[in-house]
Amino acid sequence: MGRAVHRRVEAFTESITFDRRLYRHDIRASQAHARMLGEVGLVTPAEAEKIAAALDDIGADIDAGRMEFSISLEDIHTHIERALIAKLGDLGRKLHTGRSRNDQVVTDVKLWVRDAIDELDGLLKDVQAAFVESAEREAGVIIPGYTHLQRAQPVLAAHYFLAYAEKFQRDRDRLADCRKRVNVLPLGAAAMAGTSLPINRESVRKQLGFDALARNSLDVSSDRDFALEFVFCLSLIATHLSGWAEEWIIWSTTEFNFLELPDAFCTGSSIMPHKKNPDVLELTRGKAGRVIAGLQQLFLLVKALPLAYNRDLQEDKTALFDAFDTVAGCLSVAAPLVQQTKLRRDVIASRIEEGFLDATTLMEGLIARGVPMRSAHEAVGNLVRRCEEKHCRLADLPDAAFEEACPGGGAALRGTLGVANALAAFTSVGSTAPAEVARQLREWKERLG
Ligand code: ARG
Repeated sequence: MGRAVHRRVEAFTESITFDRRLYRHDIRASQAHARMLGEVGLVTPAEAEKIAAALDDIGADIDAGRMEFSISLEDIHTHIERALIAKLGDLGRKLHTGRSRNDQVVTDVKLWVRDAIDELDGLLKDVQAAFVESAEREAGVIIPGYTHLQRAQPVLAAHYFLAYAEKFQRDRDRLADCRKRVNVLPLGAAAMAGTSLPINRESVRKQLGFDALARNSLDVSSDRDFALEFVFCLSLIATHLSGWAEEWIIWSTTEFNFLELPDAFCTGSSIMPHKKNPDVLELTRGKAGRVIAGLQQLFLLVKALPLAYNRDLQEDKTALFDAFDTVAGCLSVAAPLVQQTKLRRDVIASRIEEGFLDATTLMEGLIARGVPMRSAHEAVGNLVRRCEEKHCRLADLPDAAFEEACPGGGAALRGTLGVANALAAFTSVGSTAPAEVARQLREWKERLG
């Protein structure tokens, strides 16, 4: 019975099934720690090099699938230390000097998050490049802009694509900012109070490329803020992707028919022979839930934890890894999907004059001629109602209708009617004005190299 319980506890408390993916970071951190021990005389410099070399061999063993993982050795830290002891005997037993798994694990996770951030930056940049490429390819195409998913005002397709480049730029900036707080070295906190041994944290900091030393051992050995912040960044990326995915799912329907989705990113139906389903977009939309749930999971995990390390913290990794894998997967399919999707220009153009996309510019024309804004709003509202009754566009109304709205300026107002004229009328910075969009497109191309 005692044995049976013990086996259950082993299976219950192990983390090797999921923390093994930290092995490269664990080895790197241990090599820096060993070299520091060599510098301060806790081992000899030659011993430190022997440890570092043996750790390289262990890394190669794991790379090659030669390490046997067992839940009886609990976690990746214990596996690697045991392997070292098997190779070096008593020298291997010295590696854990002046350190605890509590500061070791948070160091490993920070090294992992740092790499994850750098990888995501590249993936985000690829997605941005795909949107910028689309902006360039579809330059000059006018599409309807929406609010409440109702036709609002005309925009250049390039303006639309660059909107996503902006969102993903903020995501990259946010990750870069998060990285600053990740890049603070925990190692040296030991179990929670530090150590009486003469370690040199500055040496480890330099070796591992951290920007600073964590100032408080109690704080840092229990800190998972950086993991939450990172998963928040991931949640926002997933949220941006989900909005884009939803939009393109709608745009690819027969009802909208704005997009030609690439076949390689759609699947068929097992029963309906004509179907072409936007599965990649749907999964992108769906997976956002998993990422956002991961953030909630981490909040619930750390909420109400007293100082310092608590074993609860072992549970941070599943949410962290899954959120990263999910977002990295979404981004890696998003870039080629965007790149290979084309606008159905003919369909868009054939319906672009529907929906009074020029009404707001007409109103602004009245305002420019001295009509108070509220009166102009009302006047154009009346014109639109007349059109709805007659089933016509604003441009189809007689001159008298415009003259009535703006005595003396009716003819001039005609120049703002129709989607092309309305679009050309924009001027403000950040607007869909053609010159402004062209300038921003140039800037984006420069920025992304
Ligand atoms: N596997 C543990 C974790 O992920 C490592 C730290 C264990 N520390 C301890 N005191 N049991 O958090």
